[in-house]
Amino acid sequence: MTIPILPADEAAPAPQRDIQHYMRPGLLQLRALPPLSLYVHLPWCLKKCPYCDFNSHAVGGAGALPEARYLDALRADLEAALPLVWGRPVQTVFIGGGTPSLFSPASIDQLLGDIRALLPLTAGAEVTLEANPGTFEKDRFRAYRAAGVTRLSVGVQSFNDTHLAALGRVHDGAQARAAVEEAAQAFDTFNLDLMYALPGQQMAALDADLEIALALAPPHLSIYHLTIEPNTVFAKYPPVVPEDDLAYAMLDRITERTAAGGLQRYEVSAYARAGHECAHNLNYWQFGDYLGIGAGAHSKLSFAHRVVRQTRFREPVLYMERALSGNAVAQDADVRRADLAFEFMLNALRLRGGFALQDFVERTGQSVASIAPALDKAEAQGLIARDMVHVRPTERGFDFLSNLQELFLPG
Ligand SMILES: C[S@@+](CC[C@H](N)C(=O)[O-])C[C@H]1O[C@@H](n2cnc3c(N)ncnc32)[C@H](O)[C@@H]1O
Ligand code: SF4
Repeated sequence: MTIPILPADEAAPAPQRDIQHYMRPGLLQLRALPPLSLYVHLPWCLKKCPYCDFNSHAVGGAGALPEARYLDALRADLEAALPLVWGRPVQTVFIGGGTPSLFSPASIDQLLGDIRALLPLTAGAEVTLEANPGTFEKDRFRAYRAAGVTRLSVGVQSFNDTHLAALGRVHDGAQARAAVEEAAQAFDTFNLDLMYALPGQQMAALDADLEIALALAPPHLSIYHLTIEPNTVFAKYPPVVPEDDLAYAMLDRITERTAAGGLQRYEVSAYARAGHECAHNLNYWQFGDYLGIGAGAHSKLSFAHRVVRQTRFREPVLYMERALSGNAVAQDADVRRADLAFEFMLNALRLRGGFALQDFVERTGQSVASIAPALDKAEAQGLIARDMVHVRPTERGFDFLSNLQELFLPG
């Protein structure tokens, strides 16, 4: 097999580091470590969607998915990472992609078996798997559940055949509906991904999508504004998408209709019935820790004197080779102390409920005094509401989120 030409950061692994390296003294003092989640990346899809910049690769044809070798690589990757998270319970697992539902239920069963053998999952840990309606067949979702998946996230995007075709999706609206109905039967909790501001979309078509989605009574909806990402087919051949004014009106309609349907907008793009918020994503937004294994996966891990970010090799063939030879880590660096407050705010201010000041101190090792000027400014501009213990974005703060977050950029 030929190895593609790689960007510089793909050429060589980060130096293999033992745990002493991460435990060495440093300027930061974290009094407690945050909750830990596990992310597993499965990087293949039936076909690459023209808008997508995720690390996902079209699978080359029947029998081309190297399931067994990839599972071996994931296990080796996890084994090599264990010293960095030794003894810490894992609260949530998210199997994302790509299209994880390309992997057979037997493979997912083996993957979860390996994870449970190596890591202490908490009782009742949330285990999410992303599924694409184009890979759906009868009883497949039930088999994932039997393997230990507790929550399914179905990539619907739209129920409208014309819009689905414009998005290059491998399924139509009827298949999307059938997949969601099956998810509802097989799982106590599940999510639908929808996108809006699609090429040629008008308000009436969005309304129709919301109508169908809400009639399926999903406990959780993720609704994303379609963005044109660099290095995608859409970046090269831009489709005509709704003007900003219409896109804003669409977001207002989404918020209104989801609220009327009993779903609360608890994060910028996430809507849930009470008790069905995604625990895994909440941990990201609360600046918790996560170990990411699999091609291109990112990790954020805290130690007593530092917060570290890692990235695995992105290209799947190279990733498998490197993971199986003991070091899948392409990049490994401490987060600069000066950047921690801003990184925390990039996440925490996405939450309707905001954050506790105590969590800010615990997770960044920075004092409340260090962000007092930015908090004062944000309050004066009507972007946050706060008391002695808690900060949350106002409606206006949510509408002007990047302006709010920028107040916390290092000086
Ligand atoms: C990694 S995909 C996982 C789901 C699965 N691969 C699928 O597409 O059916 C996660 C979600 O990100 C969203 N997404 C991907 N690219 C996007 C873009 N350019 N703009 C907005 N949302 C996007 C889609 O809603 C997609 O379902
Ligand atoms: S199926 Fe999902 S991950 Fe795969 S290319 Fe399409 S949007 Fe990206």
